[in-house]
Amino acid sequence: PFEVVLARSGRTLQVPAGVSCLKVLREAGADVDWSCSEGVCGTCETEVLEGEPEHRDSVLTKEERAANETMMPCVSRARSARIVLNL
Ligand code: FES
Repeated sequence: PFEVVLARSGRTLQVPAGVSCLKVLREAGADVDWSCSEGVCGTCETEVLEGEPEHRDSVLTKEERAANETMMPCVSRARSARIVLNL
């Protein structure tokens, strides 16, 4: 489990184990487009402002993963207890 903060509204959401970050974001009404929900299309790419994503997608390159600047919330999670997204 980890906490996701929506930077633009200041809201904090809990992402339980076994539930995708995208699902939590969408249920909270966050404006995230998505398509495959399997980490392959890149549609849900979201800017990371703080925290360290645990990348599980197959879209980002090794360099992009290491940069920690974006993530695919449909499959990726957080290594840090808290992650701040530009949403
Ligand atoms: Fe396709 Fe997330 S919806 S990568």
